[in-house]
Amino acid sequence: MTAAGGFVHHFEPARRPGAPTLLLLHGTGGDERDLLEVGRALDPSAALLSPRGKVSEAGMSRWFRRHAEGVFDTEDLIARTHELADFTRAATAEQGIDGTGLIAVGFSNGANIAAAMLLLRPEVLRAAVLLAPMVPLEPSAAIDLSEVAVFIGAGRSDPVAPADQAEVLATMLADRGAAVELHWHDGGHGVDPSTLRAAIAWLSKVRAAIAADPLP
Ligand code: MLT
Repeated sequence: MTAAGGFVHHFEPARRPGAPTLLLLHGTGGDERDLLEVGRALDPSAALLSPRGKVSEAGMSRWFRRHAEGVFDTEDLIARTHELADFTRAATAEQGIDGTGLIAVGFSNGANIAAAMLLLRPEVLRAAVLLAPMVPLEPSAAIDLSEVAVFIGAGRSDPVAPADQAEVLATMLADRGAAVELHWHDGGHGVDPSTLRAAIAWLSKVRAAIAADPLP
């Protein structure tokens, strides 16, 4: 489906009234189907909004341009973060669901643009599961993330998103008020079963908190 904002995307409605919407953001070379299984594992009743990144790097879909691995084109990243945030608003309006308080679930490049959304458009997300993330940018404006919960899953031996990046990102988000849970696994650039289990447990706590205290 191509919709609002021109992003190719896949949408599955919620299977229970009031269930949250997960915004699924694939990694480099992935597409809108990559994280459907992870999304269903995280919350079997959630609505799933899963776009495909518009940037092509040697035929691989991504969310923003980079100069080299781990060296981001910040101007492009900022513009595309706003474009994605606007898409989420338009796509949720099109589906007739609440577009505020989405829960982003991103892997690698998808985790990086999810983190950029938290730092540039915090009003769009209520929570985020960042799997193998890096620090996307240094935010210039003061932002308040005190209504936001973040799970970071990181590999101690990740050669693409080095462990210190997850630590710096966790501190950056927590310093702005986010409730951050950092889960480590011993592997590399991937999502191991322990990370998925920890994210499922974390999300069930966060869902209860969101239901008790929806965003205005
Ligand atoms: C990125 O470009 O976002 C990171 O280097 C991770 C990747 O996608 O390889």
